[in-house]
Amino acid sequence: MAAVFEATVTAPVNIAVIKYWGKRDSTLILPTNSSLSVTLSQDHLRTRTTIRASPTFDRDRLWLNGAEEDVSASKRLVNAITTARRLRAEVEKQQTDAVPLSQWPVHVSSENNFPTAAGLASSASGYAALVSALAALFELPQSASELSRVARVGSGSACRSMFGGFVAWQAGVAADGSDSLAVQVADHTHWPELQALILVVSDRKKTVSSTAGMQTTVETSALFPERVRAVVPGRMEAMQKAIAERDFATFAALTMQDSNQFHAVCLDTYPPISYMNDTSRSIAALVHAFNAAVGRTAAAYTYDAGPNAVIYALESDMRDLVELFAYCFPRAEDTAPDAFYPNPLGLFESPASVGRQVSAPKVAELAHAAGRSPAGCVRRIIHTSVGDGPRVLPASQSLLDAAGL
Ligand code: DP6
Repeated sequence: MAAVFEATVTAPVNIAVIKYWGKRDSTLILPTNSSLSVTLSQDHLRTRTTIRASPTFDRDRLWLNGAEEDVSASKRLVNAITTARRLRAEVEKQQTDAVPLSQWPVHVSSENNFPTAAGLASSASGYAALVSALAALFELPQSASELSRVARVGSGSACRSMFGGFVAWQAGVAADGSDSLAVQVADHTHWPELQALILVVSDRKKTVSSTAGMQTTVETSALFPERVRAVVPGRMEAMQKAIAERDFATFAALTMQDSNQFHAVCLDTYPPISYMNDTSRSIAALVHAFNAAVGRTAAAYTYDAGPNAVIYALESDMRDLVELFAYCFPRAEDTAPDAFYPNPLGLFESPASVGRQVSAPKVAELAHAAGRSPAGCVRRIIHTSVGDGPRVLPASQSLLDAAGL
């Protein structure tokens, strides 16, 4: 049997606490400001990607969640594959007996383990998985930071999914993008008590894509240059210090303030962009009310280019928070309890009991005062933790069949 040249990897999702919004170069995807994110566990959210190279393939082909897509239709995809091939060609130049993989077409199959309909960004884990798989297949000698530059040309936020834990994307100043890359601030074992809830918010409106939205912000917002110049640099410093010291109150305040400012510059964009909806705003208000009720900054919200809320909190507060959110944003009748909150970390006896009552007296008082939104405003609650970076899987995990389809 002829040798098969193939690699399969998984890559994680990341959620920024200091937001990337704005490009100074939209082909190389160079940002106007640095950003910082937390990588979420691949046990709950991940993209799995298999790539095979073969001289028998007639062209590059791609399947996303089982459906074939036209590779040439995505300039960013072509850019990412071309860049990885160029790095492979350097390897081949140095080792004369190397297999000429850089010359062969590739077949790519990629799958998310979370529903696309949940409105969770998949471009970050998707491009991180693509680049990690290409790096494994091509046996590239580059470090994860160097490879993050390749993921960046696919989607900016993808460069941060090349690492686990806490990750900074340094904006850089070079016109060629050589210094615009991701670095790990701390790995996923640094702060094991930190966890996240993703409240998937029901939404009918089609949102403005991040790519289009941030371009309009750069062109029209008067507040935006002030954010880039006077706010983000100080927040990047303060956030790294809060993470190093595991200072949750500071981490949480900065996270909420930066999310709020990102959505403020969106509103200052002309025409205005609003990603949060009424449910998103109720969740933010409830988080502030929760912090007031417990007398400390115990939870933080952050929102990306859509209405879903991501809540960061320490493990010891998660039971109260899940009970509160499940009570105030009750499950729709047609959603099974284990689809609404699958109880992945074993916090409750069973998913069915979640949302019936709030145990802690202060939180129960708050829940009753806040009242309940109509059932189904929050469609599901994903509970997860901080996770590691891309993983290379054994050949048995391949998404391609013997024929490479
Ligand atoms: C709001 O990385 O999706 O999630 O670089 O154009 O692909 P492109 O944009 P993308 O933007 C993400 C924006 C954000 C904030 C963040 O993740 O930092």
